[in-house]
Parts: sequence; C-alpha cells; structure tokens
Amino acid sequence: MSDKKYYVTTPIYYPSSNLHIGHTYCTVATDAIARYKRMQGYDVMFLTGTDEHGQKIENNAKAAGVTPKEFVDRIVEGPRGVKDLWKLMNISYDRFIRTTDDYHVAAIQKIFKEMYDKGDIYKGKYTGKYCVPCESFWTESQLVDGKCPDCGREVIDAEEEAYFFRASKYADRVRDLLLNTDFLEPRIRVNEMINNFIDCEGGLQDLCVSRTSFKWGVPVDFDPGHVVYVWLDALFNYTTALGYMNDKYNDMEKFWPADVHIVGKEIVRFHSIYWPAFLMSMGAPLPKKVYGHGWLNFNGEKMSKSRGNVVDPYILAEKFGVDSLRFFLLRTFPFGSDGNFTNELLIQTINTDLANDLGNLVSRTTAMSDRYFSGDLAQGGELTEADGELKALAEEVTANYERQIDAFQFSNALGEVWRLISRANKYIDENSPWVLAKDEAKRPRLLSVLKNLCEAIRVAAILVSPVMPDTADAIFERLGVPAGGRVWDAVAFDLETEGFWKTTSGAPLFPRIDVEKELASLDAILEAEKAKAAAPAKEAPKAESKKPEPAEVAEPEHLPQITIDDFMSVELRAAKVYECEPVPKSDKLLRIQVDLGYEKRQIVSGIRAWYSPEDLIGKTIVVVANLKPAKLRGVESNGMLLAADTPEGGASVIFLPDDVPAGQRIH
Ligand code: MSP
Repeated sequence: MSDKKYYVTTPIYYPSSNLHIGHTYCTVATDAIARYKRMQGYDVMFLTGTDEHGQKIENNAKAAGVTPKEFVDRIVEGPRGVKDLWKLMNISYDRFIRTTDDYHVAAIQKIFKEMYDKGDIYKGKYTGKYCVPCESFWTESQLVDGKCPDCGREVIDAEEEAYFFRASKYADRVRDLLLNTDFLEPRIRVNEMINNFIDCEGGLQDLCVSRTSFKWGVPVDFDPGHVVYVWLDALFNYTTALGYMNDKYNDMEKFWPADVHIVGKEIVRFHSIYWPAFLMSMGAPLPKKVYGHGWLNFNGEKMSKSRGNVVDPYILAEKFGVDSLRFFLLRTFPFGSDGNFTNELLIQTINTDLANDLGNLVSRTTAMSDRYFSGDLAQGGELTEADGELKALAEEVTANYERQIDAFQFSNALGEVWRLISRANKYIDENSPWVLAKDEAKRPRLLSVLKNLCEAIRVAAILVSPVMPDTADAIFERLGVPAGGRVWDAVAFDLETEGFWKTTSGAPLFPRIDVEKELASLDAILEAEKAKAAAPAKEAPKAESKKPEPAEVAEPEHLPQITIDDFMSVELRAAKVYECEPVPKSDKLLRIQVDLGYEKRQIVSGIRAWYSPEDLIGKTIVVVANLKPAKLRGVESNGMLLAADTPEGGASVIFLPDDVPAGQRIH
C-alpha cells in the first residue's frame, strides 16, 4: 500500500429533488481529481454522499405524502436517484455517506455535546430572517434587496430558543487561516469571506446551531425538541465518514486532514469559516484546502426547477455519451469561474474536440496502420530529427498538464492535451503517409511516422483518462497498448517500447452529431419542461359542468394530491414490443420484450387472459420505465405497461400510434 495518501470530497448533496448538471459538474471534477491521484500512485479516499436532514426535506416529504426517510431513500437509492446518477457518470467514489446513517447521527450528538460541555455551544434566543430552501438564517444587513443573499428568494421572520456556536471566539484564527495560508482557493474568494463575514460590521457572528421549528434532524439528546442545525450535521460528514466519534470506520488517522474539499462558491462561507471554527473547537486538525468552484448557468440564466430550465444529465449522457459529457464539463468552463451551459456549446465541443480532433486522429492512424501494415507496427522503423519535436511537445504538455490539474484547472489541463492532439493531426499532413506509401524504399519511414502518431495518442490517452476513463481504455485497445503502457509511470514519450502497436481500426469513437436535429430535440424537451413549470395547478372541474360518470366506473379512490414534480418522477415512455410469450406455468402472465430506444427491457404483465402475444408484437405501448425491478413467478420484470381497467374486470392496454418513436417520454 502506498504511503502517499489523498483524501478528496464533494459536498454532500440535498436529496430534496433529483440532482442536475450543476451537481454533476462538481462530482465529475472531483472524480477526475481522484482518478488522477490514483493514477499517480496515491492511496485515495474519495467521499461523496447526501445531506438528508432539514426543513426543506421535511416539507417536500410531507407534500409527497411520505415520511422524510422514505422520501430521501427514493431520491438517493431509487431508480435514477443519486447513486444511479453517479453510476451512470462513472463516478469512482470510495465511500458514500448519508447523514441519516446511524453512525453519523450518533457521532453528531457526541460532537454537539462536547462543544456544549466546553462552552463553545450555549443556549440563547434567535430572531432573524430565515431562508427555507437554503436552511440559512440571515441578519437584516446581510439580505440583498430584502431577499436571501445566496439564492435571491424570499426570507421569513423567525424567532426561536436556540443553541449558538461561539464562532466569534475563533474569528482571529479563521482570519489568519484565510489571509495567511492557501486554505481557500481560488484566492479571489478570500477577500469576499473576510469582508462580508469576519471584518464586517459587528464582526463574525455566533452561529445558530439548533432548531425547534421542525423535527427532521439529529435530535439534541440532552434537550428534547431541539434538532441540530443541518450545516453542523452536514460539515462533520467529512470526518464521521472516516470514523470520527464512531466505530463504523477507522480511517481518521490515515486520511484526515482532507487534502481538498471541492465545493460550489455558494457554500464557501460554511466551509471556510464555520467548518474550520468547528474543528478548532473540537481540537481537530483542519483540512488542507477548500476549493470553491463557479456555477453553471443555463442559457445565461440560473438553473431552477421553477423556471423549468434544469439540465438533466441523464438525457445528455444517454444522447451523447458519458465521457463526452464529462469532457465537455471540464474542458469548457474554467473551474473557479461561473460558466454558461448551452446545448449548442455542448454539441459543438463534442463535434470539434472529440469527433474531429481526437476521434479523427485515432481513426486516421489506425486506418493507415491497417492499410499499410495490416495493423502490425511492432518491428522496424526509421526516425528522423523532425520526430524530436513531437516528443518534446509531449513532454512539455505532460508537465503543464500536471501543473494545471494540481491547481484544479481542468480546462487548461485538457487544453494542453489538445495541443498535442492538434500537433499530431498536423504531423500526419506534414508527413503525408499516403505519399510515403507509394515508395517501397520509404516503408521504414512510413512505419515510424505511424509509430510516432500511436505514441502521441497513447500519451494523450493517459492524460485524458481521469476525465474520460472509458475513452482512454478504448484507445488503448485500438492501439494494442499492453497494461504497462497505460499507466502514469509510462507517460513519457518513448518509441523504443517493446511489444506495442498491434492496432485495430473500428467505428468512430465519437460519431459526429447532427447539430440541427439534436438541438431541435433538446429544445423540444426544454419547452416541455418550461410549459410544465409554468402550468398553473389544474382546477377541479366545476360541479355543474362535470359530466356524469358512467355507472360502471368505480368511485375515485381519493388518493392524496400530488405535485407536478411527483408526477414527473414517474417516467412514462413509449415502448415497441418486439417479442412476447406466455410465462411458463402461469395462466396470467406474459413475458414482453420491449425496445425503449435507448435500451431493451423485459417486462412481465398479468394480461394473458385478455391478450395473446400476437396482439402485442409490433405495437407501441406505454411503460413505466423507472419502476423498481420485481420478480413475478421468478421472472424479472423491469417496468410496467399501462392499461385501463374494463367494466368486466379485464384490462385494456393503452396503445400509442405506430409513428411514436421508441423511448419518447410521455406526460
Ligand atoms: N447540502 C449542502 C452541502 C453540504 S456539504 C457539507 C448543499 N447541497 S446542494 O445539493 O445544494 O448542492 C451543493 C453543490 O452542488 C454546490 O456546492 C455545487 O458544488 C453544486 N451545484 C449545485 N448547483 C450548481 C450549479 N448550477 N452549478 C455548479 N454547481 C452547482 O449545498
């Protein structure tokens, strides 16, 4: 085991609704750091998780008619939930903490008590302005235009008996930490913190760290009715997940202090002021660094559910591929600054950087290797002086890349790699292999030109692997790079390597995207979301205009009302039935194979009494696509088809017109 250790964290996300591209951005960046450090031989601990307490979750759960725990379980563990999203995005986290985990809850109670016992937490009364979505109390002077300074939403008056953390006691030490060390980056955030929160009028205020107005939190065990403020609960996740104040893990000594907490700029205040102050109070070492990245806007506007402009990473990853999306996020937006996400930019970047530059380089090189050497470049060759330039550039790029990633400048680091890729593309044109191929005497030179290209691509693939792990592997496979040539230790450009270069060509790594078509399809999705967000809740039809119900229809069940968000969490999709057969030993069930466009599924349905397989094959039906898989008579069912009850107690399957494409969302 390596003695080089590295501990990196994402914020723990609120599972108050599904995560979007902004959360994905932060997690992909952190994943790239973790992968990069592992590649460099570090023993890495990469922690992520969910921040599950607080009033907002309690409110959302109530609106959904479920308990808060059921609510968060669904968003964290359920289909297309947080864990599913990280799996889809190829996030290599080592540990996932949920603040409702027993060990964490017990640890928070101990921590709170210890701070109370030493006098750093005391009881008082709180009157102030409270932002429910941000779970933040503000003083009048901190409000911007009377609204929450973080999110711009309305605040409410709140007063309650509460416990306070003596942050004021630590103000000098925190100021010193911020001003005189590299604790907080980028550096521009330092002045903002000092001026707004420490050297502001009245100085650093004590922080209210308990609530009585709601229940969904870690109970203060020595004062029933109080729950621990969600931020105190949340921040300590970085240590409880290593075993701090609990026996579940035993990794504090090994991994604490954290090397870096990656967080969005809006929560830098909590991470750079209160978090160190809490740790000072507990006498624990401080993390080495907090990096506050910028925010992604969408088409120049802040992403928000109510505007219907939240970008869904699932849709983009399914359309364009996980690696393309990961690459776009890290290549396009300088990490410390805000960025403007547009679908156009996404598609352009994929077409230019990936399809044209990288994809073409690999395709051209492997195709020529196939054509001229049947894919075997292992033996022979003739180097010229000009080749030294490509090698020197690869070395320079590698050194710059390392410096940039170490400073969390992914965009610049990838920019460096693309210098090498562009140079290699130019090298093809300069050396015109197709001309060399016409002259038998120039075959050794031709071989070397192709080897040089393979080597440049190999180095580039190692460098992009933390950002595009699957692509790097696909490239190594195509070039026939053995395991020893895929690692950081082998990153140096070296044409003398043995056993390399049995290449194979294949389909383009990044097929070109039809810009018009895909933009239109994404615009249509966006418009539908906006319409949904803007739609007023439908009024119940007036009694006098109500059509009489047919006598056979059962009384409505008066299920609890749901919000549009609840409804949207049911994923209805058009599906084409391409195979269907009875389930053996069951006279009720049919096993139905459906095509959802993006994947094929098996569903089992109890409609055999009313439908034979021939009635369904070739038809387009409606499927609940995000239903938890279940087994019916031992046969797995991944979804459910929609059918109406018939007056006779049968089922009438809902068929869609044939021209509705497989996979279309239905709402
Ligand atoms: N639960 C707290 C964090 C506690 S950490 C001890 C929280 N959660 S959150 O769900 O609101 O998400 C926080 C993080 O998501 C942000 O800090 C940021 O990293 C990321 N993002 C959420 N929206 C974002 C954008 N639009 N753009 C970029 N990242 C943003 O705050």
